[in-house]
Amino acid sequence: MATATGLLAAIADVGVDRVRGGYSRHGFDRDELALREWFVGEATARGLDVEVDRNGNIWAWWGRPGPDAVVTGSHLDSVPGGGAFDGPLGVVAALAAVDGLRARGFVPARPLAVVVFAEEEGGRFGVPCLGSRLLAGTIDPDAARRLRDRDGTTVADAARAAGLDPDRMGRDDEALGRIGQFVELHVEQGRGLVDLGRAVGVASTILAHGRWRFRFTGEGNHAGATPITDRHDPMLPASRLVLAARSAASALPGARATVGRLVPVPGGTNVIASTVDVWLDARAADDGTTRAVVADITAAAREAAAAEGCQVEVTEESYGDTVFFDPVLRDELAGLLGGAPALPSGAGHDAGILAARVPTAMLFVRNPTGISHAPAEHAEPADCEAGVDALVAVLAHLAGDGR
Ligand code: GLV
Ligand code: MN
Ligand code: MN
Repeated sequence: MATATGLLAAIADVGVDRVRGGYSRHGFDRDELALREWFVGEATARGLDVEVDRNGNIWAWWGRPGPDAVVTGSHLDSVPGGGAFDGPLGVVAALAAVDGLRARGFVPARPLAVVVFAEEEGGRFGVPCLGSRLLAGTIDPDAARRLRDRDGTTVADAARAAGLDPDRMGRDDEALGRIGQFVELHVEQGRGLVDLGRAVGVASTILAHGRWRFRFTGEGNHAGATPITDRHDPMLPASRLVLAARSAASALPGARATVGRLVPVPGGTNVIASTVDVWLDARAADDGTTRAVVADITAAAREAAAAEGCQVEVTEESYGDTVFFDPVLRDELAGLLGGAPALPSGAGHDAGILAARVPTAMLFVRNPTGISHAPAEHAEPADCEAGVDALVAVLAHLAGDGR
């Protein structure tokens, strides 16, 4: 019987990022494909029937596929230089939970499946939860197929190379219709459980959040030969945006705004950039606050661009409104788990996408520092196993014993 920690150890060498530290495993890249293959091997070894849906999500079925299935799982991709737990913990916990149920002699009365969603972080193609958004029909498949990675490869090309037919990508009512309930286990990305002294919690909400690209265009020129007064340097309004993000988010309770990626072109030390792309990640408890933060930042960016004689173009790359997890399911699972605390999530999840379509819940596993999307992300082995035990209890409760 496998443990979550043992399964994580088995994939510890895949996608190690020797430059940034941590892991860089992105949708349909070599490392994520290796992890997908590893998952298929683990599922097959457990006698689960594996299928890949039209959008590249992998399903491993215990019993006949749907309808009214209990589904659990998460993702195997990471942010650039991310931790070992965000995503993989939910996948390995699901496999370990299957083992745990089998060890009890449990036979599910309803079909049970483990799912691995494709490109959850958007680390390669920019849009988070791409596989679940396509499945649920919350992204236009044409727009999704056209998304490009940093080397210019499109989703369509990457999907084709991974053996999918990109023309068939898009809302999949058949796959969606098989899900009765979805439960995603995830490492906590915050200190809620540490502060409460609990190993496992359930999710209450996810912040409204989105990503915006600001493209500032100025005039490329020589760093030494161009007098300061003659410059149209797009790095100036780009820098102003970074500062505006902090002040706009600070002004509204609970709001967050981050610039984690900024790309000057051509990117030479002695070159005034001709363009700078800046990606803004903004989040808040509700749509109105999130939109207000972005509006403030956009106004500051436009003003700074005009002052420098630059242009700015703003593109909303993704957006999701506040998610309220099914309160009945949440309370039922919290009760089942001995009064597990309900915690809000600042992070987005595939569960947040599915929550709009099917009853959905999340289990969180304590993270001693709260750090996530960084190599220091951690969960103690005992807490990972407490998460597996909780998932076993939840799956047994939801699927019902068919013996
Ligand atoms: C994904 O983890 C996100 O919240 O960006
Ligand atoms: Mn993440
Ligand atoms: Mn995640």
